[in-house]
Amino acid sequence: MKIITEQEIQQLRAETKGTAQRIHFNNAGSSLPPDVVVDTVIDYLQEEAILGGYETEFKYKDQLEYTYNLIAKLINSGKDEIALVENASIAWGLVFHGIDFNEGDEIITTEMEYVTNLIGFINMRKTHGVILHIIPNDEQGNFMLSALEAAISPKTKLIAVTHIPSTAGGMIPIVEIGKIARKHRILYLVDACQTAGQAPIDVEAIGCDMLAVTGRKYLRAPRGTGFLYVRKNMQDKFKLLFMDGFSTPTISQTDYKVRPDARRFELYEKNRAITLGLGKAVEYALNIGVDRIWQRVQFLADALRQQLTAIDGITVHDMGDEKCGIVTFSVSGIDSPAVKARLFEQNINVSVGLAKSTLIYMDKHHLTSIVRASVHYYNTKEEIETLCNALITIVC
Ligand SMILES: Cc1ncc(COP(=O)(O)O)c(C=O)c1O
Repeated sequence: MKIITEQEIQQLRAETKGTAQRIHFNNAGSSLPPDVVVDTVIDYLQEEAILGGYETEFKYKDQLEYTYNLIAKLINSGKDEIALVENASIAWGLVFHGIDFNEGDEIITTEMEYVTNLIGFINMRKTHGVILHIIPNDEQGNFMLSALEAAISPKTKLIAVTHIPSTAGGMIPIVEIGKIARKHRILYLVDACQTAGQAPIDVEAIGCDMLAVTGRKYLRAPRGTGFLYVRKNMQDKFKLLFMDGFSTPTISQTDYKVRPDARRFELYEKNRAITLGLGKAVEYALNIGVDRIWQRVQFLADALRQQLTAIDGITVHDMGDEKCGIVTFSVSGIDSPAVKARLFEQNINVSVGLAKSTLIYMDKHHLTSIVRASVHYYNTKEEIETLCNALITIVC
């Protein structure tokens, strides 16, 4: 694998207007889209306004369809295993709430689970009497595979994990968890919201049955885009929460038949402009190479962690052996929203991770909020230095 050269980075930055304006370290919130993604969306909307919505859709039907091929390539799935949705929460909820839970069924998750998913579990506990097992990380912040295996019982119905947590730099070993899920034949749902576009995803290697993704984060796609993967031989096992003539094309006055693919989880009406934008963003990532992106993201994040650790008054919170592009820290004596605001004045975007986003982990470490600086491949070592210099003046 060839690393992304500095020359390439300059070219990629030149193709992203935003990089000339600000230093953007909020890629885990929403990254800066490449110009080609923005232009694709705007051009499509302009055409819709002149030609008509349905007519433009017909004109671009092949390109719209190709978005599924691109996503399938990104995650090594079949294109009939992809549904386009608005965001990762919808993707996750469509399958989670489609599972036929009964009283006493058990769900296993980790301490890094995202808020949407945790709410889903609690709701299922309240309404259906399911039992939730949360596997904690060890003292070094690594997931305990042996504890997962020990927690499995004949009542275990679902293993649901978040690969890259919202407010921590560590990662959950989804491939190793997948091996355990498969060995015990347990339904396996992965939240890969922060992973797509940051690190390679291979649903065959992961062995997951369902995977939820958003577009606006590391994929650099427009807001309001996302997708759901559902393994082909599992698709019939889910209740559909919504149906229309698209998800359910065959209908008589007494019965209906749903589509034979994952698009049964979609409804007909959606924003075609951002669908094309999502396709462009996926294509852009594939052209660079997601393995190369991942290598650069880790390199920049390591550099940032090292420099932050050297600043008196800053505590880096990231734990675990394998880390990602999300770097979390706090500044002694200054609360995280104030740090964010001071950096914003200096043209630097970071975000604040609230306790609720990754509640179990944050509570365990007595964190109410952290500063989150999330790097992408288009960030530079110079930008990292500028951020650290700005933080030094804030600490003093
Ligand atoms: C780990 C994780 N999962 C899921 C989500 C939800 O994504 P969305 O806002 O696209 O629904 C987020 C959003 O920050 C996230 O960080």
